[in-house]
Amino acid sequence: MKKKLKIVSLMLVVMMFSIIFAGCNSSTSGSSKVSVGIVLPTKDEPRWVQDEQRFKDALKGTKYTTEILFSQGSSAKEKENVETLINKGIKVLIICPQDGDAAASAVEAAKKEGITVISYDRLITNTDAVDYYVTFDSLAVGAAQAQYLVDNAKGTGEPLYLYAGAASDNNAFLFFQGAWKVLQPKIADGTFKIANSSEAVALKDTADLSRDQLSKIIGQVTTNWDANEAKNKAQTHLTAVAADMKGDVAVLAPNDGTARSIADVFASDSAIKSFVVTGQDAEKASIQYIIDSKQSMTVFKDVRTLVKDAMGMAVTILDGKKPETTGSYNNGKIDVKAKQTDVITVNKENVQKELIDSDYYKASDFTGL
Ligand code: BGC
Repeated sequence: MKKKLKIVSLMLVVMMFSIIFAGCNSSTSGSSKVSVGIVLPTKDEPRWVQDEQRFKDALKGTKYTTEILFSQGSSAKEKENVETLINKGIKVLIICPQDGDAAASAVEAAKKEGITVISYDRLITNTDAVDYYVTFDSLAVGAAQAQYLVDNAKGTGEPLYLYAGAASDNNAFLFFQGAWKVLQPKIADGTFKIANSSEAVALKDTADLSRDQLSKIIGQVTTNWDANEAKNKAQTHLTAVAADMKGDVAVLAPNDGTARSIADVFASDSAIKSFVVTGQDAEKASIQYIIDSKQSMTVFKDVRTLVKDAMGMAVTILDGKKPETTGSYNNGKIDVKAKQTDVITVNKENVQKELIDSDYYKASDFTGL
């Protein structure tokens, strides 16, 4: 009898410990309960590995349990990840979709279980199963890239090469739309001449492009967010164009990963005298490129803020309260309440101030600062 009691009390102690432990853990694996599930698109791009790290930093010391899963560029894997997290009992799902439309069915499954869905950085489109959206000002990202090209234009008739992100990503439309608004008047007045998109040439007098018109241009100049595809496209374009599309040129590259590979192609063409090339994300490799004058600028999106906003929202929801928002985005089906963060243009002149002095990166991560 005594022995039985001892075993029972030992079991109770073990159970208590595991409950306390699960409650303190900030990132868990295995079959323990998870309160916030986080799904990111791919580990193959530094941007999302960076987000993972920033989430881990922000989660240190929180009482809520979280788990981060990657979809590796596959909507099927993404759905599987969401199902895994549903089975672990999550109350809030923070998800950056691989493909905005395709993610709808995954979040609809979560919604059915009463889970609150937060779209992270990229909007999940054409479904009513999204509760909140945390994002950077993506129109401003495109506008900042374009403004840099305008500010650094050389004379008139400068060849302009346009590149865009993946059509499956709503952000690619916002970036391009934001850029076009600034570039179009400068194309119309002859400052730039478009080198690599017949669709963009056909629309050069249209200031505000419809989604369909944007689709047409993006269809021609998409990189699919893939550095290799960007490189191949740039090579094809430089082979195809006539001599008057070389010399001093401007290049709208949608993000840092594609910017570096496009820049390498332009740098290796002896008929290109100089080029200005944009980017975004402030990836470490691109910061080094900027220091080395191989990439002209990047748009710094402080991921610490986005993570803080997303986790802040999740915790507010777990506490049974309503999160604050600053506006809304239409996702094709509903207006999704959104919290938006500003962005900063970074080039060689302010890289120290914006990225090192702000403790985003360490000076020792770079050479020649
Ligand atoms: C993000 C960018 C990123 C791109 C490619 C976009 O949705 O906003 O920061 O570079 O996807 O992953």
